[in-house]
Amino acid sequence: MGWSSAIQAKDVRQLYQESCAACHGEQMQGGLGSNLVDDLWKHGADDENIARVIRDGAAENGMPGFGSTLDPAQVRALVVYIREMGAQAERSQRVFNQPSTTTVSRGEEHAFRLEVITDQLEVPWSMAFLPNGNMLVTEREGRLRVIENGVLQANPVTGTPEVWAKGQGGLLAVAVHPEYATNGWIYLAYSDPGRDGTAMTAIVRGRLQNGKWTDQQDVFRVPAALYKRGGVHFGCRLVFHDGYLYFTHGERGSSEDAQNLTRPNGKVHRIHDDGRVPTDNPFVGQRGAFPTIWTYGNRNPQGLALRPCTDELWETEHGPRGGDELNVIRPGRNYGWPIITYGMNYNGTPITGLTAKEGMEQPVIHWTPSIAVGDMAFYDGTAFPRWAGNLLVTSLAAQELRRLVIEDGHVTHQEILFKGIGRVRSVTVGPDGFVYLGLEAPGRIVRLVPAE
Ligand code: HEC
Repeated sequence: MGWSSAIQAKDVRQLYQESCAACHGEQMQGGLGSNLVDDLWKHGADDENIARVIRDGAAENGMPGFGSTLDPAQVRALVVYIREMGAQAERSQRVFNQPSTTTVSRGEEHAFRLEVITDQLEVPWSMAFLPNGNMLVTEREGRLRVIENGVLQANPVTGTPEVWAKGQGGLLAVAVHPEYATNGWIYLAYSDPGRDGTAMTAIVRGRLQNGKWTDQQDVFRVPAALYKRGGVHFGCRLVFHDGYLYFTHGERGSSEDAQNLTRPNGKVHRIHDDGRVPTDNPFVGQRGAFPTIWTYGNRNPQGLALRPCTDELWETEHGPRGGDELNVIRPGRNYGWPIITYGMNYNGTPITGLTAKEGMEQPVIHWTPSIAVGDMAFYDGTAFPRWAGNLLVTSLAAQELRRLVIEDGHVTHQEILFKGIGRVRSVTVGPDGFVYLGLEAPGRIVRLVPAE
């Protein structure tokens, strides 16, 4: 087909205004053509049917087909744009919980209140509990903090590694070894500064003694030649299971690397808890492949969690504009980025029309428009019994905490528990069953407690 690169580079808003607005209205409110933001769909509500009408038209009713003038990637971008406008229209009509310390928020299953643990933090990226109930918190700027008996200790832990704190980089995940009581290991993932302004995700473990970080050992670090410039998509979440450590590594803004097995970025990895490579990893022995790779084609994974009572590893992946994903991570599989995606570029130009392909995994669900999906945690506490087994998912740009009900591997319901109290960077279920959240601007740790 002969679309020129000038047309291809057009952003979706301009495309809509030129090709569609005359009939459907500047705001998609309808006119000669139907309203596209009232969630009433004559030709079918799912993405495929909307794309089909744009492509093939409904000539008998005055909708021209655009299949010969728009390429599949542009049609996909228009679907994403219609979804964005629809969500905007819906948002303006709905009222969401905005929990605070003084109000009780009524959820579908439980009422809850918000308690502030501390508001003295910068971007609390990750939280982990020690067996004695104390909490470790990373601040992306590079500080490891301790919250002891509910009180933030004034001094950060000293001696933690120097981090590359720029853009999305910095001190990222903290995790406590499952056998901490006997071995004392704490794991830190961070953006490690390399040569000439480069950086890459690294993982170390160490012990905490009298406010000092000691006994540090490297657990994962790639050769300096593989370090990248740019401040985006580092990962990194850590999950222990059966003696293995699983972790995520964003593609560092080099989307093509996600499909390249000789590169560590754009992957989920599996190592032994001391950093050794498991000999039964899927790409061990494959020439040139990074032996720690567990899955590939992952864009910017921001959440990783083991589903309780299963061996299933679930992952949230931050998509481009549209196409945030929830995935079940299975060894050796290709999650498709950037060959397939439900999203488009941030500037509204199309990426691809391909949302599925043989040999590539489909997400359990995707969020289009994007919520800017962040961290995740399965609810396994007792304080909110009717949330048992549900998946809590945070969002950054949309500032939400969502509760997902999962049945037979499918998401059957989503509740927006609250919205609009800050970017929700991290979520963890505490030993008390309360839901702990790391919020940005101001950097806070809060928790949801029942308010029946
Ligand atoms: C010449 C007027 C006209 C133009 C231009 C036009 N449409 Fe339409 N469109 C219509 C009409 C009329 C309908 C209702 C068709 C029907 O009732 O079956 C429609 C229906 C649709 C539907 C299906 C709605 C439903 O309820 O299922 C979609 C989606 C759509 N248009 C998208 C677009 C997009 C995207 C563009 C631009 C690329 C566009 N249209 C350009 C007139 C137009």
